[in-house]
Amino acid sequence: MRVTVIGTGYVGTVTGACLAYLGHRVSCVDMDADKIAKLKRGEMESDVIFIAVGTPPRRNGEANLSYLESAARSIGAAIDSERFRVVVNKSTVPVGCGNLVETLVREGIREAHPKEERRIRFGVASNPEFLREGCAISDSLYPDRIVLGAEEDQTMDMLRSLYEPLTRQSFDAPSFLPRAVSMTRVPLVATTLTSAEMIKYAANTFLAMKIGFANEVANLCERVGADAIEVMAGIGLDSRIGARFLNAGLGWGGSCFGKDIQSLLHTAEEYGYQARLLEAALAVNRAQRQVVIQKLQEKLFILKGRTIALLGLAFKPDTDDMRDAPSLQIAERLIQLGARVKAYDPVAMPACRAQNPELKIQYCSSALDAVYEADAAVLVTEWDEFRKLDLAQLACVMQQPVLVDGRNLYDPETARSAGLDYTGIGRSTRPRFNSGRSGHVAETTADSTVTLLDEGSK
Ligand SMILES: NC(=O)c1ccc[n+]([C@@H]2O[C@H](COP(=O)([O-])OP(=O)(O)OC[C@H]3O[C@@H](n4cnc5c(N)ncnc54)[C@H](O)[C@@H]3O)[C@@H](O)[C@H]2O)c1
Repeated sequence: MRVTVIGTGYVGTVTGACLAYLGHRVSCVDMDADKIAKLKRGEMESDVIFIAVGTPPRRNGEANLSYLESAARSIGAAIDSERFRVVVNKSTVPVGCGNLVETLVREGIREAHPKEERRIRFGVASNPEFLREGCAISDSLYPDRIVLGAEEDQTMDMLRSLYEPLTRQSFDAPSFLPRAVSMTRVPLVATTLTSAEMIKYAANTFLAMKIGFANEVANLCERVGADAIEVMAGIGLDSRIGARFLNAGLGWGGSCFGKDIQSLLHTAEEYGYQARLLEAALAVNRAQRQVVIQKLQEKLFILKGRTIALLGLAFKPDTDDMRDAPSLQIAERLIQLGARVKAYDPVAMPACRAQNPELKIQYCSSALDAVYEADAAVLVTEWDEFRKLDLAQLACVMQQPVLVDGRNLYDPETARSAGLDYTGIGRSTRPRFNSGRSGHVAETTADSTVTLLDEGSK
């Protein structure tokens, strides 16, 4: 099929590349003036047109739909009556936006070529995206499910056929990303526009709540002397709960969870409903980001004049995305309290510097450079590079060897024996009946423990 993708950000680029890989002919369009001009001149011959533009939050939490609106209007201005086309919304949008897209495409048609209005045929669909930054291609080629929302058969049939190579897993796997033996078919959820839109919000808010739950339990673990990693392994083995997204840490971030919860809360408000669990998910996460500051205050008492090193800035590893990254709030708060902030991130420093010019962070060339003569270090993002750090060397070059491990990346006993004054999130400081990491969990469920540690913040 011929496909156009409008918006070539994190989602649009991967969608375009993967659909091209499956054998479709794909054009990608962005705000680039030349490309938009082409679109407006009607050089859009596609059967399927994806909208993958940003839907950032406004101040009141409502999704800003201005990019979506302008994309939908330009589609209307560009399509002709030659054949039936499908406009697919991949951006995360509030429930009801499928109807809005249809209205805007019609308005675009009416403005650009009113005489053809009756002859132009198109359908509107919702196809929410579930990819994770950092493993976006793998998530796109081997997804857990594909969700399609549409109101009529012709639209649904075209999208089923577009995605057939994925649902049947009939394409040749790329050599750099082999297919797992268990991956034989991908379930397709065919539903209405409204349900598809709701599925995306429900999935993201559930994941955010799950992490928030792990954080809340971790905070309780600290108080009663239990170990959050072992508690989460213990509950994650229950198949009704599942082991993933139970990592305690300094809270989730990124462009989706906060924005989507706020947007769903806004929708709830429009219908006069108070979504208490969603409110709590936001509040718990907001508070969790401050836990690091409290831990630093407990160790150093005064933060004014101290130098704190942040290891990692991106909201999670393997991306340079700084949207709603916990590192930003932590750095801001530390600076407010009079501390000097040094930071190192393998990838996200240019993005952080460009997007936050007012933030007085001293950017460093390595983790060691960042912690050099620092009074404390905070592990903010669990980059692989940080797993391999020589902790004894770290302890040696620091002014005070205080390490707050905001992602529970290190084994407390290993860190302590390397000379660090180590604090994790929800880790027990009680002496164990047998030393090392050989408690019940590690002995019997080594794989689950690894899964828990691998999962990251989003
Ligand atoms: N990033 C993720 O991991 C992720 C995952 C699932 C869903 N989503 C959702 O997908 C959508 C896109 O997210 P993203 O992270 O790719 O955003 P992004 O900001 O990286 O990309 C959006 C792109 O759209 C372009 N754009 C905006 N208006 C346009 C227009 N009228 N015409 C052409 N191009 C236009 C922008 O220039 C930008 O390049 C959002 O709704 C987001 O919530 C994102």
